[in-house]
Amino acid sequence: MIENSQAVRGGEPSRERAMAGGMSTDRAVVAGTKTALRSEAEIRSHFPALDRMHGGELVAYFDGPGGTQVPRAVGDAMTSYLYEHNANTYWEYPSSAETDAAIMASREALADFFNATSEEIAFGANMTTLTFHLARAIGRRLSAGDEIVVTELDHHANIAPWTALARERNIGIRSVRLIPNTGQLDWDHLEQQITPRTRVLAIGAASNALGTITDVRRAGELAHAVGALVFVDAVHYAAHAPIDVKLWDCDFAACSAYKFYGPHIGMLYGKRDRLAELDVPKLEPAPDNSPDRMETGTQNHEGIVGAGAAVDWIASIAPGMGNRRPRIVSAFQGLHARSQPLFADLWEALSALPRLRIFGPPPNAPRTHTVSFVVDGVPAVEVVRSLARRGIFATHGDFYATTIIERLGQTKHGVVRAGLACYTTDDEVNRLIAGVEEIASR
Ligand SMILES: Cc1ncc(COP(=O)(O)O)c(C=O)c1O
Repeated sequence: MIENSQAVRGGEPSRERAMAGGMSTDRAVVAGTKTALRSEAEIRSHFPALDRMHGGELVAYFDGPGGTQVPRAVGDAMTSYLYEHNANTYWEYPSSAETDAAIMASREALADFFNATSEEIAFGANMTTLTFHLARAIGRRLSAGDEIVVTELDHHANIAPWTALARERNIGIRSVRLIPNTGQLDWDHLEQQITPRTRVLAIGAASNALGTITDVRRAGELAHAVGALVFVDAVHYAAHAPIDVKLWDCDFAACSAYKFYGPHIGMLYGKRDRLAELDVPKLEPAPDNSPDRMETGTQNHEGIVGAGAAVDWIASIAPGMGNRRPRIVSAFQGLHARSQPLFADLWEALSALPRLRIFGPPPNAPRTHTVSFVVDGVPAVEVVRSLARRGIFATHGDFYATTIIERLGQTKHGVVRAGLACYTTDDEVNRLIAGVEEIASR
């Protein structure tokens, strides 16, 4: 099994060799931490997309919150699977056994990513689809009078599946208020919304529109105290900090690999007993063990392989830090510490511009390095078009975090969003600042 998995996935060992041999061994020690990280230049050398030119400039990608770029190791692992090991699962010939092993190896990688076990990781099309699927399964056991608590700070992928359920089964929905000035949840209101009728708390670990990180453990304790299940949307969080379902003590959590340097595929964590007791719609002859029972139909094998490779690639940023899980944690901590001064500079420079309004918590609050803003008098779409002409790719709109944008009073034009990723440089941040400054001064 293990031998197969190493061969199939383009091999963690060979990727490890590439990291150790093919790349420079110098490491950047991040100020304030003991983490030895691969240098910025070394990290950037893994991303073919960073060679792209536009408007006479190298492209600076600030669109990570919508989807990050992909390191070569991820593409290679997917291609290797498709060209050398492609088959369907659970049959008695080598490529099928290799496929089983590859999927298992990726489950194990994702288990390290969530701090869970491999039986607790299910794959699916994306977070939205998995969440609809989970909500339907949970809903089969709910009845009129039960309540679900959602929040205004969430992406609608963590609202619509629950409101759909509420409509279908006559269940009450309560929504926790966002405080627009701080970009944080109103905790007093959260406490009031959780009642003995609450059956599910659906909450986000980090906001894809504002970058706010929410203390999901604290919220989960309140929900568990009344016997409710806790579902965490970790999509935005997953690109910026190590998910820790043990620390969060949540029942379910979901994310998507395309936000953390992987392909377009989603994954769901479910506590072992919770997954086992779900009343999932499934084909009679399909496996009923967890996590397979959550996975309807033939899976995206190459996407699963790519997701595992993305986790290994993240772990490889902090070499020599022990097993994969501690390397993942160190990589995220180190990357966060490295980009903190860049983000603080960006925040300060943008905040100083007279026609610019910036949203969300300040840089020293618990937050990701994703910023949203508007330039008064210039629709968000015009701002990003103008930036794109300079080779700076940023996103605009509501990012399906529609309620946040409403509460900020920006429904008409949406906002501009720029996110820092592991490949973002000081120079790129300066180009972004100069670009926005120029647009705001017109
Ligand atoms: C915070 C958050 N939740 C959920 C989603 C939906 O994820 P997916 O595209 O995998 O369905 C996104 C996508 O942008 C997101 O940022």
